[in-house]
Amino acid sequence: MSNDYESDALLSEYLLLHYGNEDDGMPYAFGPRDALDFPQRCVDELLQKDVLPAEATALDVGCAVGRSALALSERCVSVTGLDLSQRFIDTAQAMADQGHVDHWIAEEGRIRTPRRFSVPAACKRERVSFRVADAMALPQDLGQYDVVMMANLICRTPDPARCLREGMARVKPGGQLLLTTPYTWLETFTASDAWLGAQDDSAARGWDGVAAILSIEFTLRHRQDMPFCIREHARKFQWSVADASVWVKHDA
Ligand SMILES: C[S@@+](CC[C@H](N)C(=O)[O-])C[C@H]1O[C@@H](n2cnc3c(N)ncnc32)[C@H](O)[C@@H]1O
Repeated sequence: MSNDYESDALLSEYLLLHYGNEDDGMPYAFGPRDALDFPQRCVDELLQKDVLPAEATALDVGCAVGRSALALSERCVSVTGLDLSQRFIDTAQAMADQGHVDHWIAEEGRIRTPRRFSVPAACKRERVSFRVADAMALPQDLGQYDVVMMANLICRTPDPARCLREGMARVKPGGQLLLTTPYTWLETFTASDAWLGAQDDSAARGWDGVAAILSIEFTLRHRQDMPFCIREHARKFQWSVADASVWVKHDA
């Protein structure tokens, strides 16, 4: 498994993806600006407010530098963010504690521009905490949550089916699972026999694998395409479209 998520370059990309401004994230007016602010949009567009109880709790698995977890704090009284990367978790916790982190964005080659990344004022930072944990074996002490989020995580793990089941087990009956994935299957993260479909031309796609696992215990409530854009440097961007879905757990 790649350890890039501890690197300075990936920290820069994820701080920009999570907290960057529009002109840094996409400096070209002709570029896909509607793909910016992905972690906030996941919460704004996917969270099913009509089935969210008062005093709701939330878990964000694979939270990276924490923007979705912080966005969830606007609606949930307690939010836990988990990630395998110590560097990401330290940064996310610094965001919650201080409200900002200083780093840089990549321009070209070794040219970097310093930036201060800040948590939006609407977030209730005191409601959010972060810890290192493995989505393949979530800590026993976690309990269950009204909202579990897994954004662009499953195709970055060695066993996406197991990852899904770990997340599913942490949802309270009647609670919601917010899932997004671009199904970017790569052998560096996931051996091909563990991909959820897409094994050959005739096989099922990732969605079929996801739906087969989830529909045993959950009902599909919502599904939409969600673009997102990661800036590598001032003239190179990764534009992707995640398959986003929201699943409500059957009552016990
Ligand atoms: C593609 S990023 C998505 C981050 C964030 N959810 C977002 O949408 O911007 C994948 C994240 O999953 C984390 N991750 C990968 N494998 C993990 C695992 N086994 N357990 C927990 N986190 C993991 C990485 O460190 C990284 O932060």
